[in-house]
Amino acid sequence: MSDLKSLESETLQAISTAGDEAALENVRIAALGKKGAISSLLATLGKMSPDERRARGAEINQLKDQVVEALTQRKADLKAAALDQRLRAETIDVSLPAREAPFNLGRVHPITQVMDELTEIFADMGFSVAEGPDIESDDYNFTKLNFPPGHPAREMHDTFFLQPDAAGERKLLRTHTSPVQVRTMLAQKPPIRVICPGRTYRCDSDQTHTPMFHQVEGLVIDKSAHMGHLKWVLEEFCKAFFEVPSVNMRFRPSFFPFTEPSMEVDIQCRRDGHDIRFGEGSDWLEILGCGMVHANVLRNCGLDPNEVQGFAWGMGIDRIAMLKYGMTDLRPFFEADVRWLNHYGFRPLDFPTLAGGLSG
Ligand code: DAH
Repeated sequence: MSDLKSLESETLQAISTAGDEAALENVRIAALGKKGAISSLLATLGKMSPDERRARGAEINQLKDQVVEALTQRKADLKAAALDQRLRAETIDVSLPAREAPFNLGRVHPITQVMDELTEIFADMGFSVAEGPDIESDDYNFTKLNFPPGHPAREMHDTFFLQPDAAGERKLLRTHTSPVQVRTMLAQKPPIRVICPGRTYRCDSDQTHTPMFHQVEGLVIDKSAHMGHLKWVLEEFCKAFFEVPSVNMRFRPSFFPFTEPSMEVDIQCRRDGHDIRFGEGSDWLEILGCGMVHANVLRNCGLDPNEVQGFAWGMGIDRIAMLKYGMTDLRPFFEADVRWLNHYGFRPLDFPTLAGGLSG
């Protein structure tokens, strides 16, 4: 009797702890298989007396029924649990927001945005874009622009020089975009109307200077381009760029070797803490250098100053980006910090147009 009881409890225990259908099948075979514990007990009945067999047979069959029922139940439970788990694992929550497309996550750097803005503005005035290399010759960066060798203005540029090449030529990282003026005049016949945005380099670093920065150069050469045109072009640019109906500009005499006369230009503004408004107020902010192209530069670039004349200007792109979009430190522009870019960057499809608005 007690052997049946312990077989019962052992088997039922094994059934209830079987973790999956394969384990349950092993329990079934151990109990009810050909050589299983219960089957072996049933096989002993044949050798018993009829009375004994009746009593013992009933007990064993009862145990067998109990085990069969427990197996069936457990099998059903395991199936239900497996289905449940699969359903849970394969759920799709249709209420979740769709994953953002990459172009929504990316941001356009403010420098790129400002370059697009100014290209849009000058293109509207008939300018095309000219480019030149970052690694420049001393001749194009300085000599042809009327900086004689040894001229002190070369020192002001904090130039990064490269090691001399095999021919002994010492190239440099261009200190301004003005060498693109030279390249353009050597390659194109007047009338010329170009802007040259690009990277420039000087050994300098503080809140408003970085060793690599950006400038945009402008150049107009034809038979009669004069300072009145220069002032109009710059004024139209400032109004469009800062998105104000009028600006006041101040042209101060200055010196650049490649222009004569040379001027620095300030625009009128009102400062309120970090806030700047253009076209009003009593402050003046310097934004660019300009002038009439020096006769020596025209001659150095194969043009006859008695035939053609023109004007040029150079402006810091980073500086006007900071002014327009309110950054106070230039260094984070080039630190590639995604948090900064998320804050100051522009959405890729909000490209600037004169019709649709420049800053989106
Ligand atoms: N190249 C000058 C600089 O980097 C800026 C400049 C001034 C450019 C006057 C010009 C110009 O074309 O006419 O400081």
